[in-house]
Parts: sequence; C-alpha cells; structure tokens
Amino acid sequence: MPKVTYIADDGTETVLDVAVGTSVMEAAMMQNVEGIVGECGGAINCATCHVYVQNGADFVLPEVGAVENEMLDATATERRPESRLSCQLIMTEEMDGLVVRLPASQY
Ligand code: FES
Repeated sequence: MPKVTYIADDGTETVLDVAVGTSVMEAAMMQNVEGIVGECGGAINCATCHVYVQNGADFVLPEVGAVENEMLDATATERRPESRLSCQLIMTEEMDGLVVRLPASQY
C-alpha cells in the first residue's frame, strides 16, 4: 500500500499506509493524525485540511481545481505554492512516498 508521511508543525513524523482511492485527509483522520481537521468531510468547503506538500515535484498530483483554489485563499496559515487541500489529494500507487507538512493551525 502506498505510504504518506505527515510532518507535524513540531517536527513529529507519522507514516501511514494509505489505500488507493482514499484521500490524504481521510487517512489522517482515520488514524487520528493531529493537525488535519477536515471539518467539511471533503466537500471543499472548510480549508481545515490544508497541507504543504514537501515533495510534490516528484509526483503527478491531481490538479488544483477552481473550488480548491478559492478555498486555499481561506486557509488559517499562509498559502504557499506547495499548499493543497488534503481532501483533494486522492491516493494513487504513483503517489507512494508523498510527504506533507501540517500547518501550525487550521483555524
Ligand atoms: Fe474541508 Fe478539505 S476537508 S476542504
């Protein structure tokens, strides 16, 4: 199963097996990874699943859609070029090894 590394703001790393077809947000919530809230359940309506993708250039990630792009302007911490909503990162085999850093706050 492909793996995703979540790096908390304090540097704590959590590595999860994430089933293909599961979002990076859902996997984190199911395993109680702190730092991702996912309040809207993946409806692109809350921006509390914001992550900074650390090695995005190594993968073909889903494109940032229009609604995600709008919501990324509403994140609690600054938007950066590597910002994504983790509910929109649906795992594929090719994304094995993805590393995301979690912002200090989602509110
Ligand atoms: Fe709400 Fe991703 S979970 S925008």
